[in-house]
Formats: sequence, structure tokens, C-alpha cells
Amino acid sequence: QILILDFGSQYTQLIARRVRELDVYCEIHPFNKIPPITPDIKGIILSGSPCSVRDSDSPDLDLDALRGKLPILGVCYGAQLMAQKYGGNVTPSEIREYGRAKISHLDTHSKLFRELTHDSQVWMSHGDTIKELPEGFDVIASTHSVKIAAYKVQGEETYGIQFHPEVTHSTEGKNLLRNFVVQICDCAQDWTSDVFIDATIDSLKESIGKDRVVMGLSGGVDSSVAATLIHRAIGDQLTCVFVDNGLLRKNEYEEVLESYKGMGLNVIGVDSKQKFYDALAGISDPEGKRKAIGKTFIEVFDEEAHKIKDVKWLGQGTIYPDVIESVSVNGPSATIKSHHNVGGLPDFMKLKVVEPLNTLFKDGVREVGKALGISDAIIGRHPFPGPGLGIRILGDVTPEKVQTLQEVDYIFIQGLKDAGLYDEVWQAGSMLLPVQSVGVMGDERTYERVVALRAVSSVDGMTADWVHLPYDFLGKVSNDIINKVKGVNRVVYDISSKPPATIEWE
Ligand code: XMP
Repeated sequence: QILILDFGSQYTQLIARRVRELDVYCEIHPFNKIPPITPDIKGIILSGSPCSVRDSDSPDLDLDALRGKLPILGVCYGAQLMAQKYGGNVTPSEIREYGRAKISHLDTHSKLFRELTHDSQVWMSHGDTIKELPEGFDVIASTHSVKIAAYKVQGEETYGIQFHPEVTHSTEGKNLLRNFVVQICDCAQDWTSDVFIDATIDSLKESIGKDRVVMGLSGGVDSSVAATLIHRAIGDQLTCVFVDNGLLRKNEYEEVLESYKGMGLNVIGVDSKQKFYDALAGISDPEGKRKAIGKTFIEVFDEEAHKIKDVKWLGQGTIYPDVIESVSVNGPSATIKSHHNVGGLPDFMKLKVVEPLNTLFKDGVREVGKALGISDAIIGRHPFPGPGLGIRILGDVTPEKVQTLQEVDYIFIQGLKDAGLYDEVWQAGSMLLPVQSVGVMGDERTYERVVALRAVSSVDGMTADWVHLPYDFLGKVSNDIINKVKGVNRVVYDISSKPPATIEWE
């Protein structure tokens, strides 16, 4: 595997995903918590950072312990750190270099650049520049404005590059990473979905043994894939719970429950709609609604978990981005999820946790899901928030409002599917606004609700752009909604990106 040491760059996870795309396993660890260097670690990548190596308290590590022992690739800050530590000179760039640049010189004999074209485009994002290299370091690439765009240390497989090969704007970045990981580190490209599935099933069998496992399903990709893996390992020792919180999409509860049963999962459907509506009655504040929904879910799930005899484990669909301890700009800090630290823990939370997907990124989860034969309807599903339509109804939630929004949402989502647009959108949904507007229908004046439609493109939900859906499509959907859904007389389309807006309205 490849070890990626994180200095806090926004691109660190992207480096890991690119390495995984080469079918090579890798892990991200903070620069100040380096795991033991076991023989299965074949190389190290040092990430970029928002910090400057010229700052007195900039992130640092004991490079002597690593250098020369196994191949190292420093990216941006990682490259500057090595250059600075061994006697080179790093200075502020005259202009902050951000964006595309062209390679003007490339040492085509370098193993790192095998089969790369000599003038390829790379992505720069740095405020410091390496002005002088230490003795024994050779320049192996330059751009028009950066002389030391890449270097190699003589007699060692130690490299530094100023640009970001992990960003797709570096057009040959993937080849460069392949050269490092496969040619230089000698990693086998054998970390495939099938290998992951076999190894995970074996280890689940071993750790769970004859115990019973309970798991909540959401209808989403992660919990569905995690449950399928656990089920493959231990069969009906796994009991799944799928809760109807009354805030799901139209027909979703019935359809998803059916598809889970079709997959052979032992799943208990729990209709708790009324409990959730009661808990939400009169609450308008978004966080108040989230808390009420979360608390009710825990109560319902706890009650169901108690009905299963001798349960010892809780299955969860946690994925890798949730467990990576990333480094923040203000120094190392562990991003630990504050689960449910309200008073005493419910009993099910005292169970041992099994998280078979906690080493995978979302795209990896989808691939594993496909290899497990899970239907496209589940694998390709847009993300949907846990509190569901509860946070898409602005203001207080009532069953009538839920029903109205379900109808609106159904027309929009079905419309996207019928028009072949669903897969081009990362997430779509509709919001019921606490606003009424005047309209006219036939000869009658109306005074009814406004709904907003939202469709975004994104990679991970952290940033997002609104999708330029065709006007004809929007026109048809708007028409359908106003004609078919009672109580709605106006449709608007949200054209805000994230940031500064968020994807959800609450
Ligand atoms: P925002 O609105 O923060 O959303 O841009 C980013 C992504 O997170 C989802 N989201 C949630 N998911 N519980 C969830 O499980 C929540 O409370 C929640 N709030 C937002 C949102 O749908 C989007 O995919």
C-alpha cells in the first residue's frame, strides 16, 4: 500500500482517490501520527498544505526516518518541506500561482515522467516557490514561470513536484501517479472490488462469528452495500431495520422495502410515521427539527433492537471520508463525529460496531455495490438527507405538507428520470416554502404555496453548482406541478451555488 501523509491540503483526499483508481490500496494519516512503517507500505506521498514552510510553527516531520528507506513523492508543500529541510531555499512567490501552467522542460529519462508528453498542462496552487535546491537534488521539470517544478534526489527514489497531479486539470497527472505508485514503488494493481469483497467477507466472518448483528437501513447506497456485505458473510444472523419516518419520498418506503427483501435481506419495516409527526408538531427551527427526528429515530431503533435476542453488534454504513482524521489549517485536529452524546446512550449504542465500508470512498462503495449485484436503482440513487422532507418543508411539518411535497418531488424526480437527466445530476429535490402567492386559475384568484426546485452537480456535497437544466424541461415540470398538485400555484428554480448557499435550504 501507499501511505499518504496529510499536511492539511484540500486535495489530500483526491490524491487517495486517484491512487485507489489505480487499484492500489492507500491510507491517509496525519503528518504527526505516522503509523509504523510495515513492509506492506511501498511508498509515501507527502500532501500539500495551506501553511507555508517559512512559518515557524509549520507542520513538520522526521524526514530522516523515512528518506532513502522507501520511495517518497512530495506534492507542493511536501516538496517545499523536503527542499527547505535539506538546505534549499523556499521564498514567497512574486505572484501567487494558481491555475493551469504548461511544462516547458521535462527530464524524459526520469521514471516519474515515463511516457509523459514534454509540454503537458499541470495545475498549480501555491504561494511559495522553491528558489534553490539542496545539494544532490536535481531539477527534472520546469514550467514557464516556475524553474523548479519538479526535482529528484540523487541516488534515492525521492521526488518533489510543485504542481498537483491529483487534480484533473493536470492532464497527465494520473500517469505521473501511476509511474510513482507502480513503476517506482512497485505496487501491484490488484486492489479490486472482488478482492475487497472476498477479504471483507472473510474478516467479517471471523470477527462476528456466530453473533447477531442489527443494522438500520436508509435506502441509500452506503447502508445498502454495507448490509449486503454483512449478509454475505453471516446470512440471517443479520437483522435490518428500515424505519418509515413519514418524511421519505412518495412510495419510497414500500419500494425500497420490497427491493431489500428481493436482495434476500432479513429486514423489518417499521411504520413510525405518526411518532415522527407527533415529535415534530409545532417545531419550525431547522436544528430543532433535526434533533426531534434524530431522537425519535433512536427511540424507534432502540425498541426494535431490543426485540432481537442476543444481539451483539451494530452494523453501520460509515465510509472513509467520515473516519479520516484530516489536519485543519489551525493545527492538527481530529474531526470526530459527535454522535449522540445526549444523556445516557441508548442500549443499541453500547453494541460493538461493525463498519465494513470504512476504508472506501463513495465511488469505491458504488463499485463494490455493482460487483455485489445490487440494482442500479439503489447504487445510482441521489443522496437524500436523514431528516428527509422534514428539512425541505420550511417551517413546521404536518402530514398534509409532507403529502404536498411528496407529489411535487415525485413529478420533478420522475421527470428527470424520464428525460434521461437523473444520472447527470448529483442531487435533486424540492422545497415547500412558507410563502403563499397570488395566482389565477380559470376565472378564480388563487392564493397558494410556492415550491422551489433544486438540482446540483457536485463530487462530495462539500461544494456544488446548480445544474443548467433545459428551459423546456423546467417549463414542463413547472406546468405539471401546478396543474396536478393541489395547493401549489408557483414554481421557482434555485440558481445558487454552494458556497455561499448550501444544498438544502435548512
Ligand atoms: P448542505 O445542505 O449542507 O448539504 O449543503 C450537503 C449534503 O448533506 C446532506 N445533508 C444531510 N444529510 N442529515 C443527513 O443525513 C442532515 O441533517 C443533512 N443535512 C444536509 C444534503 O442532502 C447534501 O447531500
